[in-house]
Amino acid sequence: MRVSLAQFLAAVAALVVLIGLVLAACTPSHPQSTFDASGPVAGMERNVFYWIFWAAVFVFVTVGGVLVYTFVRFRNGEGIPRQVHGNRRLEIAWTLAPAVVLAVVAVPMLLTLFRVSSPPAGEVAVNVKVVAHQWWWEVQYPDLDIVTANELHIPVGRVVDVTLTSNDVIHSFWVPKLGGKIDVIPTRTTSIWLKADKSGTYFGQCAEFCGISHGNMRFRVIAKPQAEFDAWAEAQRGPAAQVTGEAERGAQLFVAKGCLACHTIRGTLAMGKIGPDLTHVGGRTTIAAGLLDNTPEDLARWLRDPPEVKPGANMPNLKLSGEEVSALVAYLQALK
Ligand code: CUA
Repeated sequence: MRVSLAQFLAAVAALVVLIGLVLAACTPSHPQSTFDASGPVAGMERNVFYWIFWAAVFVFVTVGGVLVYTFVRFRNGEGIPRQVHGNRRLEIAWTLAPAVVLAVVAVPMLLTLFRVSSPPAGEVAVNVKVVAHQWWWEVQYPDLDIVTANELHIPVGRVVDVTLTSNDVIHSFWVPKLGGKIDVIPTRTTSIWLKADKSGTYFGQCAEFCGISHGNMRFRVIAKPQAEFDAWAEAQRGPAAQVTGEAERGAQLFVAKGCLACHTIRGTLAMGKIGPDLTHVGGRTTIAAGLLDNTPEDLARWLRDPPEVKPGANMPNLKLSGEEVSALVAYLQALK
C-alpha cells in the first residue's frame, strides 16, 4: 500500500492528539501525586523516575527518528540501499550503545534502592508499627504506648521508621507524596521509612487488591511540628475522657450492644481487639478508614449501617434506633 506524506503526517497528528488527551489526566496538584514530593524518599523516587523517563525518551526519539526518516525517505520504494549481510563495526556499536544506556539507568536506580531501603543511620526519631486489617489500618507507637487507627501522626522533618505486618491477607501501604509503597504481608514484617518536609495531611491508601473494600482502605499521615506532635502523643497516652449526659447513655449502650467485644476504650470495660481502638476516636479527622469525615452526621450514617458504607466490613448493622445512634455519636465524639 502506498501512503502519501500527507496521510502519514495526518496519522502522526492524530497520535499526538490522542497522547495529549491521555496526558491531560495527569496533574501535579493531585493530592496523591508522587511528582509533588514532600519528603526525601518520594523525592529520590521521583528523581529516579525522571532519570529513567528521559533515558527512555532518548531511546524512543533516536530509534523512532531513524524509523520515521526511513519511512518517509523510501516511501515510494525508490532508492533503497543495497542490503548487506554482517557489519562488524555496526554490530559492536549496537551492542555497546544499549549497554551504555542500561548502565546509565542502573547506577542511579540501584543507589536509590539502597538509600530508600533503610532509614539513615542514627536518625530515626519515631518508631511506628502498622498492622493492616480488612479494611483498616491499626497504628501503634510501641515506644510511646499509643494505639490508634487510620491516622499516622508524625513530627515534621524527622525520620519515622515504619514496620508493617498484616492480620489477614496481603495489603500494600502507600503514601505517594512521602514515598514508597511496601507490601504488608501476614506472618512477615516489612519496613519503610518516611520523612515529611513540611506540615500537612498526606493521603495514603492500600495499594494491593485485598478484597471487596480494598478501595475503601485509606489512611492519612498527619505531619506537624515536634511540639504539637508531643502534645498529641501525650493526649493519646491518657485514658478515655469521662462523659456525662447523653454521652454517658452512649457509653452504657456501647457495653449493652456488645461494641466492647471488638473495640478497646482504655479506662473502660471495652478491651476488644478486633476493630480499631476507640479511646480517642473523637479526636480523629476521619472514621471508617478515611471514608467519612468524623462529623456527627457521618458517624451516625456509619453506625446505622456499616456494611452499607464499607461493603464487607466486619462491623455489623446492629439495627440501632435513632435515639441509640445519637447517644453513641455523642459518646464517641466526646472521646477526644
Ligand atoms: Cu488492603 Cu487493599
